[in-house]
Amino acid sequence: MERRSENGADGYVEDIPYTFGYHPELDPARMQAVLRRAGVEPPEVAAACELGYGQGMSLAIHAVAGGAAWWGTDLIPSHAAHVRALVAGTDARLEAADQTFAVFCARDDLPRFDFIGLHGVWSWVSAANRERILELVARRLRAGGVLYVSYNALPGWAPMLPLREMMVAYAAALPADLPRADRIEAALRDAQMRVLRDPLVLEACPGIEAELRAIRHKGVAYLAHEFFNRDWAPMPPAQVAAAMRSVGLSFAAQADEAELASGARFRREYFVKDGAPPMDEGATATPCRRRDDPLRDVQILNDRLLALASCSPGMAWLADPQTGGGVEVGCSAMLMLAAWRSGAVDAASVARDAEAMLTRLGQHLVHEGRVLVETARVRAQLRIEARELLEVTLPRLRERGVLA
Ligand SMILES: C[S@@+](CC[C@H](N)C(=O)[O-])C[C@H]1O[C@@H](n2cnc3c(N)ncnc32)[C@H](O)[C@@H]1O
Repeated sequence: MERRSENGADGYVEDIPYTFGYHPELDPARMQAVLRRAGVEPPEVAAACELGYGQGMSLAIHAVAGGAAWWGTDLIPSHAAHVRALVAGTDARLEAADQTFAVFCARDDLPRFDFIGLHGVWSWVSAANRERILELVARRLRAGGVLYVSYNALPGWAPMLPLREMMVAYAAALPADLPRADRIEAALRDAQMRVLRDPLVLEACPGIEAELRAIRHKGVAYLAHEFFNRDWAPMPPAQVAAAMRSVGLSFAAQADEAELASGARFRREYFVKDGAPPMDEGATATPCRRRDDPLRDVQILNDRLLALASCSPGMAWLADPQTGGGVEVGCSAMLMLAAWRSGAVDAASVARDAEAMLTRLGQHLVHEGRVLVETARVRAQLRIEARELLEVTLPRLRERGVLA
């Protein structure tokens, strides 16, 4: 089987691995619940596919905790290696390829999928890759099946378009032997200076300066993938809907109603493939699974997620065997659970070890929406949280089978 090439990364940043996010919209059970609330009868999901799965947190959690068989692909080989390591030794039915969309979408050995999802991909890849994704949906999503897609929307992102072009051009003009992270930092600094010096820009886009300041605090893994690919194509929702209509998909529901209400520039949407499933396709060839020991698999994965949390910033989710999806425990709780898993038994030692991890990761403790800066306050707050974790949260997680 051809591995990855055929036009390679096609303008996508491939030398910096992505962040460790989990995206609940990719959970088939959540998709079904959202569609039902919207008055749409959702499909059963036995075979599912995630395109551009990144570090594979969602893919691993859904393949291990849920009942569907999963396929997926991502360009970056270390992403594929990561998700394979997360599920190793479990019963998960998962094929995590490291093929480009050009190769994966042309494969003729894929099943008919009931659910295809792509989070943070559509606006960040080339037009040719969007076409390939649509071809895959046309050929491989069964009638009645669901597509989940998230994208950057217009007009919300319009002020950022020229600025991003400028930053990409600035970074590209720097010496090629400068590490990408340094080129990104220099481009952001330059953009900030230009904006500050340009009253016309400040007047036309009052929020842009604050936006750039906020962006500069994000890690390079996020920045590289969000803003420094060759392609960045925010679109009006009507344009996305038209692309989906061209392959027989109708809009079904917003995946995140709360975010939409706040006027977000990032949209998450479900589309349903038109037509009733033909008799031979309705019963899918990949039955939902009954496993021998589902709790064991989830707990293997969750122990790995806790180990990962102690060295990777921003992790907040574990797999939940009761729902088949993720359960959000929060970033500081993840670190405290990691400390507990490594042998800390009481609140004082859990808090102390979590504080050391926060420092090592360069993360801040957030309480009631505010970053705590004074060491004494951080310590006191961690103590409170550690006590609650050990007395309330941990017993609940164990009762649900999330942790052994
Ligand atoms: C912004 S990241 C999102 C990752 C993940 N879905 C998430 O939200 O955490 C986009 C992902 O798409 C992958 N990707 C980009 N172009 C691709 C291509 N042509 N073929 C396969 N994967 C690609 C990248 O490697 C990257 O992991």
